[in-house]
Amino acid sequence: MLQNIDKILEEARQFKAETKEEIEQFRIFYLGKKGALSELFKNFKDVPADQKKEVGQKINQLKQFVSEKIEALLAGISEEASTDDTRDLTLPGPPVQAGARHPISIVRNEIISIFGRLGYTISEGPEIEDDWHVFSSLNFPPEHPARDMQDTFFIEKDPDILLRTHTSSVQVRVMEKESLPIRTISPGRVFRNEAISARAHCIFHQVEGLYIDENVSFADLKQTLLYFAREMFGKHVEIRLRPSYFPFTEPSAEMDISCQICSGKGCNVCKYTGWLEILGCGMVDPNVLEFNKIDSKKYTGFAFGMGVERVAMLKYQVKDLRLYFENDLRFLEQFKAAY
Ligand code: DAH
Repeated sequence: MLQNIDKILEEARQFKAETKEEIEQFRIFYLGKKGALSELFKNFKDVPADQKKEVGQKINQLKQFVSEKIEALLAGISEEASTDDTRDLTLPGPPVQAGARHPISIVRNEIISIFGRLGYTISEGPEIEDDWHVFSSLNFPPEHPARDMQDTFFIEKDPDILLRTHTSSVQVRVMEKESLPIRTISPGRVFRNEAISARAHCIFHQVEGLYIDENVSFADLKQTLLYFAREMFGKHVEIRLRPSYFPFTEPSAEMDISCQICSGKGCNVCKYTGWLEILGCGMVDPNVLEFNKIDSKKYTGFAFGMGVERVAMLKYQVKDLRLYFENDLRFLEQFKAAY
């Protein structure tokens, strides 16, 4: 009997089935009602008692082998069925859409990186602010139009709580909590109550800069901004500072860069002036230092603030501000190569 089982096992081993029908025949032959195994089980009662254990084990092994083989054969068939022989494995895969950074992020990161090289830290402040940090401590007189309902979004009719209209508020937060000297930039979102058009938006981005130490001069400011402009727009860029007014700086200036489109000759981008305005700046007003308990006799500082959209407009020649906020992939995909 033992030899018989071995023979059956060997046959089962050799068996090759390619179709479902052949596998079914194999199954019936071994596991069917009148199959080889039931025959073996039937004859089992005649096996001498001392061999019963060994024979029983063998029969069970055979049964297990046959069942596993059937399973494996069936699995092989379903795998094959799903394999399309005409598939060309050398074809390139379907294209994967790679994401791109938003142009505003690209420009903001570049600004951060340029000032990082000059040793500036990054600081942040809340978007929902109070009057003190946005206006009062920055020397805005009570009647200043920037506090007006038309410019500022107030929260729940409380004139003390508002959405910051500029990132200059972060200057104040830094002066409050950090020790001198201070050298920091503050990127962030700002909000103004403006009708949305190609040239204005109610949300936009700024980067504020602040440097306070002993003996900081206007010449330091000018050199820092020249470095920034050349890193950002190219080494042939010229800058010019025009006198201006901000409540928190004295003296104050606005900075223009030479138009990169026409190299200063005059074109419709620079409105035939050869210059493009890019930021506001100045020496921190001693009042602002004193409001923040900094000795204005000992320390001086400069500050500047720029619009990220403005820099992006000049860099990419995209003049409609709304495009930066609409998330239209046809627009955003064009910046893929930039990072
Ligand atoms: N806060 C100004 C604005 O939103 C920009 C600015 C101008 C910031 C001069 C400064 C500065 O720090 O010194 O228009």
